[in-house]
Amino acid sequence: MRKKLTARLLATAILAATGCVAHAADTIKIGLMLPYSGTFTELGQNITNGFKLAIAEKGGKVGDRTIEYITVDDESAPAKANENANKLIKRDKVDVLVGTVHSGVALTMARAARSSNTLMIIPNAGADELTGALCAPNIFRASFSNWQVGYAVGALMAQKHKTAVSLAWKYAAGDEQTAGFKEAFEKGGGKVVKHLALPFPSTEFQPLLTEIASLQPEAVYTFVAGAAQVKLTKDYEAMGLKDKIPLYGAWITEGTLEAQGSSGQGLLSALHYADGLDTPRNNAFIESYKKAYGEVPDVFAVQGYDSAQLFLAGLEAVQGDTSKKKEMITAMENVKLDSPRGPLSFSKSHNPIMDMYIREAKGDQNIMIGMAVEGLEDPSPDCKL
Ligand code: BEZ
Repeated sequence: MRKKLTARLLATAILAATGCVAHAADTIKIGLMLPYSGTFTELGQNITNGFKLAIAEKGGKVGDRTIEYITVDDESAPAKANENANKLIKRDKVDVLVGTVHSGVALTMARAARSSNTLMIIPNAGADELTGALCAPNIFRASFSNWQVGYAVGALMAQKHKTAVSLAWKYAAGDEQTAGFKEAFEKGGGKVVKHLALPFPSTEFQPLLTEIASLQPEAVYTFVAGAAQVKLTKDYEAMGLKDKIPLYGAWITEGTLEAQGSSGQGLLSALHYADGLDTPRNNAFIESYKKAYGEVPDVFAVQGYDSAQLFLAGLEAVQGDTSKKKEMITAMENVKLDSPRGPLSFSKSHNPIMDMYIREAKGDQNIMIGMAVEGLEDPSPDCKL
């Protein structure tokens, strides 16, 4: 009897020990669902670079668990988003879903993350709903809401102009950023005289620019991004509008100044990152990024880096034990990140609270020349957390 009991105790001890070893050896799986083809390719790549840099700076592991990446090209295609997200959630059983750039794709990912209670970190997509009506304890955003970036540009333009036309892609990001812009511009005494829309990812700007030339507003607000913004500023300059009707946007010169040539020079924008932010944190980040990738980081790289910093805050609170999801979430909610962009904390809806800078495009840089809005928080009225 005594012998049997000892044998059973021994077996239990061995099982527990083996279980522990198996858990310790498990990798922490990060599902990166981002655009690696199409108009947002560079954005997806820079987010990936920033994310991997922050993890590499920590030695690529937390506790005794190594970090592993599983990557999916989402093609910025909303129709493929559910299948792609579920590959990572159900087939690969990732510990965190990181994505994406395109608002429409991210909305579908968030629904999949909500229904499976998978931790999700959004490194770009601004759809207001993600931290609004769709907000959830397991969904965080390390970038911005569309309302936030539109609002910052509206605040900047209201300091200088009384009338404006807006021009944007017709999908969540274009509609919502334009709404944020209009709110701040009209609050500051301006009037939006017309909104012009074109389908994503069209770059058929000519007819819209002809209409702008005849409307003659004092300024133009725009949201298109990635490769399309190069075509827009070039068309705008070629039609003789650049020096007559100033063109503004949050993204309009981000990461593309070299390709834009003279068409980008002098343009003003407002965003949560800028060149020339001379802080020890930002300078160290730039050096580390340049060493790793041989180029200077842009805002997308910063957003990727901060997405990883946010995840690491959760992981470190539980020494890498991702089964302690509630503790991870509490740590992520309360973290105050020392971001290259400046101090970064999170609202009740899990959206960034951050400064929005005024930038001027000079050479290959978007130089910080002032503050558009300090400590901007999206009120997220529809989030019921
Ligand atoms: C978006 O779809 O939310 C988005 C895409 C590119 C830049 C900014 C926002």
